[in-house]
Amino acid sequence: MTKLAKKIKAAMLCGAMAMPAATASAEMAYQDVSDLLHLVMSSDRTVYTRMIVNRLAVKEKVITASEHFEDDKALVLPAQMFRFGAEMVAEETDAFSYSLLSLWPINKQNAPSTDLEKEGLQYIADNPGENFYGEEELGGVTYFTAFYADVAVAEACTSCHNKHKDSPKTDFEGGDVMGGVVIRIPMDG
Ligand code: HEC
Repeated sequence: MTKLAKKIKAAMLCGAMAMPAATASAEMAYQDVSDLLHLVMSSDRTVYTRMIVNRLAVKEKVITASEHFEDDKALVLPAQMFRFGAEMVAEETDAFSYSLLSLWPINKQNAPSTDLEKEGLQYIADNPGENFYGEEELGGVTYFTAFYADVAVAEACTSCHNKHKDSPKTDFEGGDVMGGVVIRIPMDG
């Protein structure tokens, strides 16, 4: 069990609550932690896209953003920025992990792979403004898994995806749900 899972369980037991209530509260605690993690992630992601990529690549046109950023001497894509951060976190801790997925992925590796991922991404696409929370067992470990809509917050998001040769969807508009941030917290592993 990770330190986070232990702390959440311990906090629940200290409350001397009846078990069903304690279980329900543990769920809430995972949800609260996940919501706060997501707030930091989505804020950083929006700031990078609006203040770096959109400003320099779309408005000022002084540099481009490209997945081949080294060869092209370009800016790192917002999705790469996000993944590099997730990779650094994974090197430091197994208390949680996160990724950026979509039902319309440019990179096929970003398509949903578990049943809950398919359900969660569909839910947040169909219900703008709502999150989706569930539990899933993967490799013998039970995870609390949360899904948050990834929204087109700048023109750079839609213009780049709509014209990308590998994008299966070419009519994204500002404010659309383009995919989802998935956060996983092991509950007992
Ligand atoms: C300059 C081009 C570009 C910009 C700007 C851009 N994207 Fe992407 N995006 C990509 C590419 C290319 C990938 C695939 C990267 C990879 O995983 O290697 C991607 C990946 C994604 C994914 C994961 C699913 C997939 O398509 O592979 C989501 C969701 C996403 N972008 C949403 C957004 C949002 C929302 C914004 C604005 C905040 C944005 N993108 C800005 C090019 C762009």
